[in-house]
Amino acid sequence: MIIAIDGPAGSGKSSVARAVALRMGFHYLDTGAMYRAVAVAAMRRGIDLNDGVTLREFSKTRKISFAYEEGEVLPSRVYFGDEEMTDYIRSPEVDRAVSPVASCPELRGDMLAKQRMLGSKGNYVVEGRDIGSVVFPNAALKIFLTACVEERARRRSLQNETRGLPSDFDKILRGLKDRDEKDFNREIAPLTIADDAIEIDTTNMSEEEVVQAIVDVATKVRDKVCGPDGGANDDNCRGLPEIGDEYA
Ligand code: DC
Repeated sequence: MIIAIDGPAGSGKSSVARAVALRMGFHYLDTGAMYRAVAVAAMRRGIDLNDGVTLREFSKTRKISFAYEEGEVLPSRVYFGDEEMTDYIRSPEVDRAVSPVASCPELRGDMLAKQRMLGSKGNYVVEGRDIGSVVFPNAALKIFLTACVEERARRRSLQNETRGLPSDFDKILRGLKDRDEKDFNREIAPLTIADDAIEIDTTNMSEEEVVQAIVDVATKVRDKVCGPDGGANDDNCRGLPEIGDEYA
């Protein structure tokens, strides 16, 4: 079963999606990391990020894959072919550069197929912008996380500070407004709330409150979709792979 978690930049999707996956014993797929990995790889080679045809041809030359740190339950390493992208994909430079990559229709088609293929392998929490609306329109549970842009900027600034990245609030706020504008208004797969999604405004909620609210609903949905044994014998309800497994 799929739990789709969508929402704008800085709405806390990644932390919440990972925590929900851990608590539910589900796989986790960060679709934004896929677009980011292509953006970094293309930038390194001087490819014009607005040239959709070249970008797509280039992205097809390598496999995007996720891998686990030793002892981790969820994957946190991202590769483009053999190139490890993990340390670069969250930089402010990539924040700014990734929008044209994600808006490229040629590339989105390939990503969609890949994301569907991965998500068909069992129980997944999938986070992104178009997961409930386009990638998995039949997801068992769709969550749309929001928060006012100032709160999102405050959170991102704190997060960057912890990671040793530039954390200037005003600059982050401007960047988020710019990405909102692009994500909501782009022609292909714009950020929209699916009709059957549950919208959670997290502005005044702690991360734990948000996670708990989602886990409460997800548990009920899983019992209904997978049965009381969690679908132990059902391929569509398989939980986490063995630690150390790699998948692409
Ligand atoms: O969630 P994120 O900030 O890591 O996403 C990076 C970029 O990719 C951002 O511009 C939105 C875009 N994206 C998308 O268009 N569709 C997705 N399913 C996930 C991310």
